[in-house]
Order: sequence, then C-alpha cells, then structure tokens
Amino acid sequence: MVKELLAYIRPHRKILVLGGLLGLIGSVAGLAMPLLAKYVVDAFGQDQSMAGPLLGLTVAVLVGAVVSASGSYLMERTGEGIVLGARRKLVDRMLRLKVADVDRLKPGDLLSRVTGDTTLLRAVLTNGIVESVSAAFMLVGAIIMMATMDGVLLLVTLLVVVVIGGLVALIMPKIQRAQLAAQEAVGDMGAVLDRALQAYRTVKASGAEEREIAVVGDAAVRARDRGLQVAGWTSLAGVATWMAVQIAFLCVLAVGGSRVASGALDVSSLIAFLLYLFYLVPPIGQLVQGGVQLQNGLAAMSRIKEIESLPAEPVSVAVAESAEPVGVTFEDVEFRYGDDRPIVHDGVTFEVPPGGLTALVGPSGAGKSTVFGLLERFYDHQGGVITVGGRDIRDWPLGELRATLGYVEQDAPVLAGTLRENLLFAAQDATEEELTRAIARTRLDDLVSRLPEGLETAVGHRGVLLSGGERQRVAIARALLRKPRLLLLDEATSQLDAVNELRLREVIAEVATETTVLVIAHRLSTVTNADRIVVMEGGGVRAVGTHDELVGADELYRELAATQFLVS
Ligand SMILES: Nc1ncnc2c1ncn2[C@@H]1O[C@H](COP(=O)(O)OP(=O)(O)OP(=O)(O)O)[C@@H](O)[C@H]1O
Ligand SMILES: [Mg+2]
Repeated sequence: MVKELLAYIRPHRKILVLGGLLGLIGSVAGLAMPLLAKYVVDAFGQDQSMAGPLLGLTVAVLVGAVVSASGSYLMERTGEGIVLGARRKLVDRMLRLKVADVDRLKPGDLLSRVTGDTTLLRAVLTNGIVESVSAAFMLVGAIIMMATMDGVLLLVTLLVVVVIGGLVALIMPKIQRAQLAAQEAVGDMGAVLDRALQAYRTVKASGAEEREIAVVGDAAVRARDRGLQVAGWTSLAGVATWMAVQIAFLCVLAVGGSRVASGALDVSSLIAFLLYLFYLVPPIGQLVQGGVQLQNGLAAMSRIKEIESLPAEPVSVAVAESAEPVGVTFEDVEFRYGDDRPIVHDGVTFEVPPGGLTALVGPSGAGKSTVFGLLERFYDHQGGVITVGGRDIRDWPLGELRATLGYVEQDAPVLAGTLRENLLFAAQDATEEELTRAIARTRLDDLVSRLPEGLETAVGHRGVLLSGGERQRVAIARALLRKPRLLLLDEATSQLDAVNELRLREVIAEVATETTVLVIAHRLSTVTNADRIVVMEGGGVRAVGTHDELVGADELYRELAATQFLVS
C-alpha cells in the first residue's frame, strides 16, 4: 500500500525535492537574519557606513522571501499534480468499468472518491513527506549531540521514547481504520444526497423533503462521529509523544542526578543534555503528524484502489467496418443478473435476419430490455450463443460491436449540454447535412426552430428542459446518426403523440430498408407492420410470426392485441 502511495509521487519527485530544498534554504536565510541585524547595529555603533550591512540585510530578506515562496509554491504545485494524476487515473477506470459493477456502486459515493479521497493524498504526499524527512534529520542530529554528552542518559531517553513510540505505532493502524470509516461515511452521505437530488421532483411531489433532509442529516452525523474517532486517536498519539518527552525528562533527571552525585557526570553536561531533550519535541511531533497523515493517505488510497482494482472493459474507439445490415441470433441463451438473482433468460432462442423490422413484445419483466443489454455486452450471458452478423458476440472486439449497434434506451437519457452535443454524442464526425436529415426524420425541426438558440440551446441536467417525447426523439436521432448496422429501439414510441408516432413508424419502416431494426414495443399498433414479431414470456420465446399469424396462433399475443383494440 505504501508503495502504491509512493507511486503517485514518482513523476513529481524532482520538483518535490527542489521544493523541499528551497524551503530549507529559506529557513536558513531566516536564521541568518538576526546575525545580519547585529552587523547593522554594530556598524551603527562604530559610526561606520551602514550602506553595506543594510544592503546585505535587504538582499537577505528579499532572497529569503523569494526562495521560501518558490519553495512553498513548488510544494503546492506538486500536491496539485499528485491530485490531478490520481483523479485522472480514477476517472479513467470509472468510465471503463463493467455495467454490472456500476449497478452495485452508488454514484454519489463514486463522486466522493474522485473529489474527496484524492484530495486527502495531497497533504500526506507533499508536506507530510518533506516535513517527516527534515524532522528525521533534526532528530538524528539531536541524538548525536546527546550521545556526545552522555551515553547512559541517551540510553535512558531512547528506552522511554521507544516504549512510547511502540504505543504510538499501535495507535497508527487504528487511525487508518477510523479515517477509512470516516471517508466511507462521507461517501454514504454523498450517495443519499445524490439519491434525493436525482429524484428532486419526486421528493417534492411526495412531500418527502423533511424525511430526505433527515436521512442526509443522519449520514452527516455519522460522518461527524467517524471524524471524531479519527480526532480521538490522533490526539491520543499526540499526547503519548508529549508524555514520552516528559517521562524521558524525569528519568534523565533521576538517573542524571544520581550520576552527578556520584561524580560520573558534571552538572553542565546534565543541563545541556536536558536542553537537547527538549529539542526533540518538535521533530517527534512532526514525525507523529507525518505518521497520522500517512494513515489518512492510506485510507484514501484503499478507497481509490477499490475502484481501480475492478476490471475494466477492453473498449477502444472503433467505427463500424461497413454499413451492411447485420442479423442477430439468440440460441438457447441463459442469463441471470447475478448468482443470487432469478433467471431472466431461460433458453431464449430467436433469429433476426439482416435488414427489415423485427419487434420484441411480451409482458413487463419478460426480459426484453435484457436482450438489448446482452447484445451491447453490458452483461455477459452465462449459457448459449448470441451472434451478431453471424459472429459470436464474444469474438467481436467490444468497441467494434458497439459501433455496429445503435441503441435507444428504455428511458432514453439526454445529457447536460446543448442539443447539438446530445445529437452528435454517438457520432462525433457526422456532417451538418447528416445532422439536418436526422433532425428532420425524427421531427425535431419544429423544436429546433422554436428554441431561442436552436441547436446550441442547453437542455439542462439530464435534459429536464425538454419534454419526455422530445428527449426520446433526441435519443432516436442520436442513434440514427451513428449509422448503425443494427438499430435497437427500446419502447421508442411510447411517449410520442399519435401524429408523431405515425411519422416515426414511417421513419422506422424507412430505416428498416437500410439496416436491421429490432424494436421493443408495448404498443402493438407500432409494430403490426413488422416483418416478424418475437413474443417473449417467462424467460423464453413463446412464439414468432407476423401480426396476422400470431393473432391466429398465439393466445398471449391475441390477448395483448385485443386489449389494445387491434382485433375484435
Ligand atoms: N440491472 C439489473 N439488475 C438486476 N436485475 C435486473 C436488472 N435489470 C432488470 N432486472 C430484472 O430482470 C428482469 C427482466 O427485466 P427486463 O428489463 O429485461 O424486462 P422487460 O421485458 O424489458 O420489461 P418492461 O417491459 O417492463 O420494460 C426483471 O425481473 C428485472 O427485475
Ligand atoms: Mg424493458
């Protein structure tokens, strides 16, 4: 762990050493100040020209100030560099995690790891290390001086310091554990706050403000309590070091006194020794402080590592090899979301030839959206074979597979940013002409002409400034701009009004002449003209056929159609 912590410093070590040295030179310059002042006064007293000494003093002040300032700036800079490195690495991993892993994690907690935990690394890796190193030098220096005074007294001192040092060493892991709990509590608070903010309107509509305030408040209290635990152990470590010096003082006084009485030591040496003993106080304090910071850093580190140790998807940016439509087959596919979760797909088998429109229908929870999740390889199926374009999806390079598919999610998300950014999200290099065409196809042109800044209008966090239907059409246009060889539409038409739904049916039919379209729909009216309809139920495929065939042959489908007044 300590090694991994140091890995963050490696790229910055030269600047860190330089900063430390400048700081040291700055303090030495500070020490020279009284001496120079003495020369000034001397010159004054001896009626000599003060110009020389004054100039010297001024230069020393200026140089000292500039050197100290540069030193501390370099340290801060290194700190920022370390935080930046840690954040970059963490975010890089976060956005490459597997969907199944992210399902478990809470967004608010993830956020706190990037913002809070990385910040904790700064103190330990810059000031913590530099001060500990200089404190160690001071400590060794003082001990050498004490050794020249009297070896026996030094032994007594070291004995006391070692015993109490051992105690402090026992406390250190407790500080780390408490700090970890404190950071976790902050993460939990982030998670519950995020939950309330994500469902802001629902919170208000449910009159749940006070309850949510209390929930977040409780989490804040837990964070405070954990923080107090850290404070408790930290003060204990501080008090133990203070005691170490006091006890050492008493022991040295007792042993030294008797040695003075027996004539083995003279009084002046004892006094000098005792003075040096108090020289030990600041470096020991700094070392303990450095140790505490190290524990804090290690705690933060373990939370960062927790994310970085999760597997990353091997995605590289790719473009589809060709524009030819691809087919899909599901062959006896078995899938469940987790070992402790119910089976979702229990031998799903169907075939979608390249080109044309295929619809997936079935009751809620039948596993329709899961079909799309498996095709995009958000999740890996446990049994059976899925092919896209005749090739097992496990053999596709992930980036290429996803570049082949266009995907409109069930609750199609729109990201904060402008309308244009959202439309081009999946196809960064689409031309203006393609953009205009996609907008016209999804009937977004009205909206664009109505908006004050057209395509450059910001859509708000998660697209809240758009209507549900608008959001959905934006998502469809976005998927179309990717020029997919297989378009996956999940409930794409559920939020459209009758006129727009009709138009979109036309668009889908038109797109289906160029590429394969697989659409999940609850409203059968949108898919009655599909080339084939796959009826899913209870973890399997129940029937496949056209609308007319299914109305005649499948009871569930007839029932679904009857409730939607498609047959009498
Ligand atoms: N990320 C997930 N983790 C665990 N279980 C899930 C997850 N997503 C869906 N499920 C479960 O898998 C089952 C199938 O879900 P799926 O979303 O595929 O249904 P659906 O057919 O699309 O339903 P709907 O028509 O309501 O959209 C459901 O029982 C659901 O609870
Ligand atoms: Mg669904």
